[in-house]
Amino acid sequence: MSKNILVVGASSGIGKVVAEQLIAAGHEVYTASRRDESPEGAHHINLDITSDFSEIDGLPEELHGVVYCPGTINLKPFQRLSQEDFQHDFEVNVLGATKILQAALKPLKKGKNGSVVLFSTVAVQSGMTFHASVAMAKGAIEGLTRSLAAEWVASNIRVNAIAPSLTDTPLAAQLLSTPERKEASDKRHPLGRVGTSEEIASMATYLLSDQASWITGQIFHLDGGMSVVRG
Ligand SMILES: NC(=O)c1ccc[n+]([C@@H]2O[C@H](COP(=O)([O-])OP(=O)(O)OC[C@H]3O[C@@H](n4cnc5c(N)ncnc54)[C@H](OP(=O)(O)O)[C@@H]3O)[C@@H](O)[C@H]2O)c1
Repeated sequence: MSKNILVVGASSGIGKVVAEQLIAAGHEVYTASRRDESPEGAHHINLDITSDFSEIDGLPEELHGVVYCPGTINLKPFQRLSQEDFQHDFEVNVLGATKILQAALKPLKKGKNGSVVLFSTVAVQSGMTFHASVAMAKGAIEGLTRSLAAEWVASNIRVNAIAPSLTDTPLAAQLLSTPERKEASDKRHPLGRVGTSEEIASMATYLLSDQASWITGQIFHLDGGMSVVRG
């Protein structure tokens, strides 16, 4: 069955590949971001998730899935993090998601079979130097995931999150900007390399599909073994 799915942040990185995979599978994909660089075939909606909004113009009456991709990698020693840093990370990672999900609830309920995919990070499960602000924000996403999974189960809407480790996207470009940095990042992962957008997106498209119809409230650690394996 063709589904109507909203992908927030499909102009780059993981979200772009999620949208491409969904379009290739024959779904109707609605994308929302500031840049209109969504894959061909998507219905693009111009939206800045930090703006004040309670409705999303251009959504269909029924939705079967929402993926929320905007995120930050703002790595600094704790003493150098300003209140603005904490607020910005929380705004982009968490408050944007809450506004999107409140605006999408009505069409998701109408769709009668919804799936929401949010993004956390490996740095919530494993303490990592300089990750305090982003780990705080993504920790809130994990709480939101489990809370909404409970609250929306009555509406048959599943809510899950993916917690990736370093993945080769524009967001991570600075951390992978030289061959030495890339090699050091590869080596930190038990599977010997950083992730790809395709690997992360495939989990998102699986969670949106009916094959995942008995999965809700889960955090999926896609991290090359980083959070659990010791070599
Ligand atoms: N890449 C990694 O290493 C990594 C690791 C752990 C977790 N994650 C998480 O995975 C998710 C996806 O990351 P990614 O690497 O694919 O990121 P990305 O390449 O930076 O893509 C982010 C997307 O979000 C959109 N976005 C950002 N700010 C927005 C705003 N204010 N309004 C509307 N759209 C906005 C961007 O579109 P516009 O700029 O056009 O608005 C873009 O399409 C994020 O939540 C990230 O925290 C990534």
